[in-house]
Amino acid sequence: MQPLDPTSLQIVTYPHPALRYESKALRRVDTTLRSVVERMFELMYAHRGVGLAANQVNLPLRLFIMNPAGKTGEGEEWVFINPVLSRPRGNDEDEEGCLSLPGVVGNVVRPKKVRVHAFDLQGNEIDREFSDYEARIVQHEADHLNGVLFIDRLSEGARVEVEEQLHAFELEYQTQQRMGTIPEEADIMAQLAKIESAYCS
Ligand code: NI
Repeated sequence: MQPLDPTSLQIVTYPHPALRYESKALRRVDTTLRSVVERMFELMYAHRGVGLAANQVNLPLRLFIMNPAGKTGEGEEWVFINPVLSRPRGNDEDEEGCLSLPGVVGNVVRPKKVRVHAFDLQGNEIDREFSDYEARIVQHEADHLNGVLFIDRLSEGARVEVEEQLHAFELEYQTQQRMGTIPEEADIMAQLAKIESAYCS
């Protein structure tokens, strides 16, 4: 099995099992992990995203990144390690998408404001309230760390509308697994467990 190579990381798409993985808290940050975060920003910008969670690049780590501007050199880059969300307030409905579900969109109702406690890559504490668009990103990404996708939060009607697209993703995944371009389930789980034991215990 390959050791963790940040440059080889790619975004995994639904229904890859890493997206349903409930990540454990990160216990150590090393130079490899810093390169992982760098690579995650690279991938996020390349795919025109505003947030990306570690399990979207097949890593079982409690970590996500965000840049609400979605462009290199613009906006603010955030790294949230072991984030804890609290004090949700208000209600807000807006359209969401996800880099792990390209082309799928739907309206999701979420609290309008949320407080986030986390650490950055340097070990500095983050304790801040986010609202509106930023609050939505933070909550969408924190969901990822718990194995939750925005499609799980769609209204029944909205879910029906994306069902066909989800089915197409499932068929494509099965095909790729048959062709061997995606490893077998057991190998994916073994790799996740290995990285988890290196960084989360
Ligand atoms: Ni997402």
